[in-house]
Amino acid sequence: MTLHAADFIARKGNKPITMLTAYTCPVARGIEAAGVPVILVGDTVGMVEMGFASTRDVTLEHMEYHIGAVRRGAPDTHIIGDLPYLTDTDPQTALASAQRLIAAGANSIKLEGPKAEVIRHLVDNGIAVVGHTGLTPQTATSFKKVGNTDAEAQRIVQEAKLIEASGAFMVVLEHIPYTLAGQITQALGIPTIGIGAGPECDGQVLVINDALGLGDYWPPFSKQYAHVSDTIVKVARDFTAEVETLEFPNNIIQFTGTGKR
Ligand code: KIV
Ligand code: NA
Repeated sequence: MTLHAADFIARKGNKPITMLTAYTCPVARGIEAAGVPVILVGDTVGMVEMGFASTRDVTLEHMEYHIGAVRRGAPDTHIIGDLPYLTDTDPQTALASAQRLIAAGANSIKLEGPKAEVIRHLVDNGIAVVGHTGLTPQTATSFKKVGNTDAEAQRIVQEAKLIEASGAFMVVLEHIPYTLAGQITQALGIPTIGIGAGPECDGQVLVINDALGLGDYWPPFSKQYAHVSDTIVKVARDFTAEVETLEFPNNIIQFTGTGKR
């Protein structure tokens, strides 16, 4: 059953919300099978799947492609699509961009920063919006924690409040002090989803590649529940060894593929 904005708001204070990113069909299928209520097709796709140095290289076309793949893998899960860099610069541009992501299969969109007018315009046009404050990678110059000074912390609190007041139904808090995330979570009526923001948020999101151990860099606040990159090297080595020794595909008894899942 697909959850929607009101369901997530109702979870606040009751049951922590788990969110994972996904970019491909088979990964989305696994996440839906596990019962995770919300998938984020993040613009992190540019860094963890496409090899770009920044999320700023991601386009609407990239997002449509990945949202479509994730939707085919997870037909019954709420999907949030990230609006890429510079596709939400003004209300009209943002609405046209958001409509493309919704048409590609997203239930809602996420955008970075306290863009009050943009959020309000999207919500007024029937688009469910997720906000994102704290570290906002599209405009950040480093990936360091933000909100360490009182002034910065106050700015982030105000941004979170403005995002809620503009009509967003959920907000991602990225890489801020745990106490600040707790304070924002208390102050808002909508759920906060933390990444590197501590245990006092209403939910947690991880980039699926980080959780899988698929990649070559792990943010300090992430956790590797598996080591898929190591598995890839092992599979490629084992295959190479078997081809070179004529073990594969000669010895049919070795085939383990069943032809179905
Ligand atoms: O793009 C993304 O995956 C994100 C999360 C890190 C919150 O925005
Ligand atoms: Na993002």
